[in-house]
Amino acid sequence: MSEVDALLTAEKGAPRLTSETWDVAAQSPQPRHAILNMPEYHPPLAGRTSALRLDFNENTHAPSPRVREALSKLSLESFTVYPERAPVEAIVAKHLGLAPEQVLLTNAVDEAIHIVCFTFLEEGDECLFAVPSFFMYDVNTLAMGATAVRIQADETLSFPYERLLAAITPKTKLIILCSPNNPTGTTITREQIHSIAQTAPHAVIMVDEAYYHFFGETVMDDLQTRHSEQSEGSLQTKQVPRPPAASKHRAPQNMIVARTFSKAYGLANLRVGLLAGPVALMQHMRKACSPYNVNGVALAAVAACVDDTEYIDWYVDQIKTGRARIEKALDNMRVPHWPSQANFVLMHIGPRHKELVEAMRARGVLLRDRSSDPGLDGCVRITVGVEDQVDTGIAALRDSLAAMGWTPAEVSKPEQQPKETPEYE
Ligand SMILES: Cc1ncc(COP(=O)(O)O)c(C=O)c1O
Repeated sequence: MSEVDALLTAEKGAPRLTSETWDVAAQSPQPRHAILNMPEYHPPLAGRTSALRLDFNENTHAPSPRVREALSKLSLESFTVYPERAPVEAIVAKHLGLAPEQVLLTNAVDEAIHIVCFTFLEEGDECLFAVPSFFMYDVNTLAMGATAVRIQADETLSFPYERLLAAITPKTKLIILCSPNNPTGTTITREQIHSIAQTAPHAVIMVDEAYYHFFGETVMDDLQTRHSEQSEGSLQTKQVPRPPAASKHRAPQNMIVARTFSKAYGLANLRVGLLAGPVALMQHMRKACSPYNVNGVALAAVAACVDDTEYIDWYVDQIKTGRARIEKALDNMRVPHWPSQANFVLMHIGPRHKELVEAMRARGVLLRDRSSDPGLDGCVRITVGVEDQVDTGIAALRDSLAAMGWTPAEVSKPEQQPKETPEYE
């Protein structure tokens, strides 16, 4: 036995490595199969700061002025302390009318999706979601070794409710419902969400409300109903009155809601979001989450701005007005588009979608090409900004399409879409 082999086998109970197997072991380590097989997500982030960012659905202006004030008060010493999430969770919970135990702050919704999948999905489980939608649902489902069951929307891009219901099986462990949906801007009704939750009591229903503020409808108030019921038991919290919309329904006990501070609140760079739900489910997810997942700068910013309704109302009003202006401009240019309840509009350009994105970039405006999303061949998305940004965006669109010599005749139906004449034509 060589000296190396002797060393490798010396420890009692150690695996019996020889120099032969050592060579193999010394080769590059391999990840789990699920990681090897999962897709990569590399959004085009380079060189964005010098252009008008109408490509990523962020807030395109600035957060509430209260954020600057709060950050200017942070001492250098505060950077040396591990962040404490709980006090800010209590502030956010109060803002939402929930108990602190019902809210988990996360490193934005990206981490929220990860935590939900990490907590609830095992190999062989099925995770259902409609497509086209946010790609991180795929990434996190597949990373867990679970199966992604994708329900394709038809040409209207409306939520494929009946088909999603029909796809629920005993293996369905998680259903992700995105409302308003990215990149289509379409929504799901409360009734649909409830009936999905009731049809799949064995599954967790995660409602992604990243774009809630630009729509105004939510199922978060259903959790308040749960909260008031729970408060009679262990939580000892005050009774929250049931909102009229929720009072007709029994709130699902298997539903959680995700929200982000990246969109209306304008804190995308600080990475904060949240998960809210019944305490029984939240307890599992809290276990699966690092105690320090949200940094102290982000926590200070959130505490300062979460209740600044004056700012949020102003920003949301800017977006709703701008969205209507963009939709009207697209109508005038005869560019087919889908009605949106979010801070973006999806348009159908046809085969020259890349050319449009390049023409806009040359004019200093970034758009997002969504042509490779399932069912969105030839589609491009524009984020709605504040008033002057909408002016710039519309002018650049008009210029670009004219310079390209684009005509509505170029728009043929996206490949996977049905044959009837689309409403948007
Ligand atoms: C539907 C949806 N969910 C979640 C996210 C992630 O947001 P964040 O991680 O910034 O909170 C996005 C980002 O664009 C999104 O479109």
